[in-house]
Amino acid sequence: MGDMAYLDNGATSFPKPESVYVAMDTFYRHHGVNPGRSGADAAMEAGSILDETRKELNSFFANPSPDYNRLIFTANATDSLNTCIQGMVRPGDHVVSTRLEHNSVLRPLHELANRGIITFDLVPFDGDGFIDPADVAAMIRPETRMVVVNHGSNVIGTVQDITAIGAICRERGVTFTVDAAQTAGCVPIDMAAMGIDLLAFTGHKSLLGPVGIGGVAVGPDVDPVSFRWGGTGVRSAQLTHLEQYPYRLEAGTLNTMGIAGLRAGLQWILEQGMDTIVAHEQDLSAKLCTGLSDMPGLKIYGAPADDRHTSVISVTLEGMNPEEIGMRLDIDHDIITRTGLQCAPLAHEGIGTGKLGTVRFSIGPLNQESDIDRVLTAMHELSHEAVAR
Ligand SMILES: Cc1ncc(COP(=O)(O)O)c(C=O)c1O
Repeated sequence: MGDMAYLDNGATSFPKPESVYVAMDTFYRHHGVNPGRSGADAAMEAGSILDETRKELNSFFANPSPDYNRLIFTANATDSLNTCIQGMVRPGDHVVSTRLEHNSVLRPLHELANRGIITFDLVPFDGDGFIDPADVAAMIRPETRMVVVNHGSNVIGTVQDITAIGAICRERGVTFTVDAAQTAGCVPIDMAAMGIDLLAFTGHKSLLGPVGIGGVAVGPDVDPVSFRWGGTGVRSAQLTHLEQYPYRLEAGTLNTMGIAGLRAGLQWILEQGMDTIVAHEQDLSAKLCTGLSDMPGLKIYGAPADDRHTSVISVTLEGMNPEEIGMRLDIDHDIITRTGLQCAPLAHEGIGTGKLGTVRFSIGPLNQESDIDRVLTAMHELSHEAVAR
């Protein structure tokens, strides 16, 4: 990583554990052929890595369906959320979501609404960044097909009470989709206990895999329809797409190298223990927040280091805009952050930063205390410069 302090793990985790690089390289050199497309040893081996990864992820997320083929692979969380939303809604349906959503939920909802296919309502969040499950219940109507909720905010790190919302969806017979882009791998997810029907995740953030791989864990009570059809490598004589999982929601050659990397990321998490990883991230997060809190003109939007928050912290500095801060951190201090609206414009509107956004620090398992020390030194310098302007 050179001398860079990388604090943009909310965008994508970096670096990856060494085992992830090794797994991808080894896989692609030895088994980089198309699984399911032939009976050759390498193809069988590639197919078995796919199967094992489906099994491991299905159990990691406690999908109540034991059929691990219901763990389907996609390109990323955006692809997963499109698969869930477009796969479930029908003309005339209503969807309930929240103002904390990423554009990967907001844009599909707006697109479908603009085409006259659905209507939707967005639940607001309170001053601490939490939505009230009672507000979700109040917005459900007879024609509500789906509730889709951001599990962990990519702007302020708040983790929503998914279990309470899941219980409401169960009671009202509404499909519950969760955007776990920011939580899969760093917040425990139990689909059965939380009442989640569709869990959309990405491989390249806290699951520590590479970019280009994501997935959906499809619960036993829902069957999204695909909007993509094509080759599956099996039953080629059939001219319509297969109904069976995983083919139902997968078409074309999968990102097998990405899956091998994702599997290694998951194995690393299980070996270290998610609790240990989270405790480390929370310690760094607490150190960062404490160090930032008494700097002049500095406002922290991401809240405390506890189990209702991931290690995503947004800040602004009076007198210096976020873009300039991000640039100065990068150019003068080799510190990588993310500035602006982070693809979640309504979340920013809600915290009062809708125009310029924030500077977002997001901590990953491979960050060290020295990274936080560097941020604090740099922000101390910038905050004094901003006050003097
Ligand atoms: C909350 C949230 N949802 C969805 C996404 C989209 O993830 P991907 O880039 O894997 O499509 C992100 C990415 O930043 C996110 O933070």
